[in-house]
Amino acid sequence: MDVTSSASKTALMVCAYRARASRWEKPLFVDPWAEKLAGEEGEAIAKRLDARFPPMELWLGLRVAYLDRLVGLAVDRCNVRQVVILGAGYDTRAARLPRAGVTFYEVDHPATQASKRERLSTLPGYPIENARYVTCNFEREDPIAQLAGAGFDTHEPALVIWEGVVPYLTEGAVRATASRLAGGLDPRSLVAFDFVGKRFAEGQKLSEKDEQTRAYVGELGEPIRYGSDDILPLLAECGFRWVRSLDFNELALELLGDYKRERQFRFQHIALAAVRTPVAQWP
Ligand SMILES: C[S@@+](CC[C@H](N)C(=O)[O-])C[C@H]1O[C@@H](n2cnc3c(N)ncnc32)[C@H](O)[C@@H]1O
Repeated sequence: MDVTSSASKTALMVCAYRARASRWEKPLFVDPWAEKLAGEEGEAIAKRLDARFPPMELWLGLRVAYLDRLVGLAVDRCNVRQVVILGAGYDTRAARLPRAGVTFYEVDHPATQASKRERLSTLPGYPIENARYVTCNFEREDPIAQLAGAGFDTHEPALVIWEGVVPYLTEGAVRATASRLAGGLDPRSLVAFDFVGKRFAEGQKLSEKDEQTRAYVGELGEPIRYGSDDILPLLAECGFRWVRSLDFNELALELLGDYKRERQFRFQHIALAAVRTPVAQWP
């Protein structure tokens, strides 16, 4: 994706999955905005992925629930007053999880952010002013400089959520962004992001369904570019000194209470990173 390209279609797709997960019999979260934001276009894109990768809805439901929980812990237990959503797409956390005194910053590629703001303006009641909107192309711009321009305080801790973005970036952009986060944020900050395995990213020895999934997002104009089976070395080289990673079977076991092999969570992971050992116990 570059600055001249159009708004992210994968962002609309994940928004549609968030809408669906909100309607689960026992939902892990409820996003009252997602259905209208994603619209028929988002649902149509998600439907086409369903056949290729049936666990997608579950995967995204778990991802959103886990990251929502981090926001709650950061704000309520650790007194964090800045929440940054990198590559925000149609994220609605600023509207769903607001707290007095907490500022949400949504950072995204200009094309996607413009489309989001246009869609939000047609949603009656959406608190569009709950977030500060910052543009940044991670392939060539510095997110800390962009954030500082919008009033972000680099001497105060932040929770940074980088959800569903890293796989779409070049390794150079992942490294540059991670290095800027490690070097430019207050050391009490926490960065959380998800990533995919190397074989999936590189299209090597994949099952037919995994290959179809990978090809499908490429057809949407956002090819998978970066994956890793061991994210720690990259994060260490970028300046982080505390790293934890977890996989989606662990999350499913905790949040849904069971393990099912057929969920096919083979290549998705979440990483937490900080430059100093956090005082809080992050889940
Ligand atoms: C799959 S969507 C995820 C959206 C959102 N985080 C979520 O989980 O609902 C990918 C997001 O990454 C953003 N993105 C992709 N490449 C980017 C780049 N080079 N610079 C900034 N944002 C980028 C897209 O604009 C889009 O919002």
